[in-house]
Amino acid sequence: MNSATLLALETSCDESAVAVLHRNGDGTGTLLASLISTQIELHRAYGGVVPEVASRNHALVLRPLVERALAESRLSARQLDAIAATAGPGLASSLLVGHSMAKTLAVAAGVPFLAINHMEGHLLSPFLPLLESSPLATNANSPAGIPPHLALIVSGGHTMLVHARAVGDYQLLGRTLDDAAGEAFDKVARLMGLPYPGGPEIEKRALEGDPTAYDFPRSIPRELDFSFSGLKTAVRYALPKAGDLPREIPNLCASFQQAVIDVLVNKALRAAHGSGCSLVTLSGGVSCNNALRSALAEACARDGLEFLACPPRFSTDNAAMIAFAGLLRFQSGYRSHFDEDIDPNLALCHP
Ligand code: KG4
Ligand code: ZN
Repeated sequence: MNSATLLALETSCDESAVAVLHRNGDGTGTLLASLISTQIELHRAYGGVVPEVASRNHALVLRPLVERALAESRLSARQLDAIAATAGPGLASSLLVGHSMAKTLAVAAGVPFLAINHMEGHLLSPFLPLLESSPLATNANSPAGIPPHLALIVSGGHTMLVHARAVGDYQLLGRTLDDAAGEAFDKVARLMGLPYPGGPEIEKRALEGDPTAYDFPRSIPRELDFSFSGLKTAVRYALPKAGDLPREIPNLCASFQQAVIDVLVNKALRAAHGSGCSLVTLSGGVSCNNALRSALAEACARDGLEFLACPPRFSTDNAAMIAFAGLLRFQSGYRSHFDEDIDPNLALCHP
């Protein structure tokens, strides 16, 4: 395998992120830079992401961020082998900023441009730390190998169960029919008057609460799909009846969080068994949640399955995961056209 160095930009929502990843000929690699400029404070006042505020801020911070990432990596743009950017799914006006800048940089540096699916970044992110410690499994047919596995991806916009057979070979087994898991955390937090983003706030308060205090519904729609809007409504109805709200918030948070975890763990295990996978991975912003990580780890251990969770630093949106997906794709021969557009609804895979 040839060595390769890749720059990646991620601007699908409210984080502007730039990373540089290098892979040696022996398959090991080093993350040379991974920078994130978060806009959380800018959007907090509105209780959620305002698209125009997000895109204007991406446009302001991205160039200095690229310059810093290259300086930290001690590289010039001409020493890169390819430049990747998130092409979707995400907010159109945010995606356009990183996508256009990556194409421009790639033309200027005379290197290929790679359009990467944000969800593929999340899906592959649990394997990124392995690259730094040992070469990923490779063979002649698949120089960029990953082991076959069942991936549970839980983010602010998506909840997906994917059977990943190899890089680029994915089958969608289940998805949310309404709210994504992270979206449910954010909406329930908002109902309780907690700040955006709601996931970390709910997790913090749940530590002091009793997960059995409220019997919230575990909505189990058909097959391996998810539905979280009924759970959100149940919390809304419970709030006015909760009495001393400041005292009850930890119990409400713990009970809500437990209901989400029960459903996610239950379906992930069913999907793993159904697809014959012996490895389960967990990624996406909600995978920062320690209660979810331990519940899924314990359930996998009980069922004799291997478990690999994305480290929290690569769980919420970042460019290292886009660089990693880009690198594995690049080494499998993938290239994008300069006339390709972004796609806010870009699908990762189909049933
Ligand atoms: O993957 P991500 O950064 O962005 C998307 O691609 O959507 O995920 C963001 C989501 C938000 O909904 C946030 O509330 C949730 O991840 N999140 C958490 C935690 N940390 C972030 N949810 C539950 N527990 C957490 N500790
Ligand atoms: Zn994401």
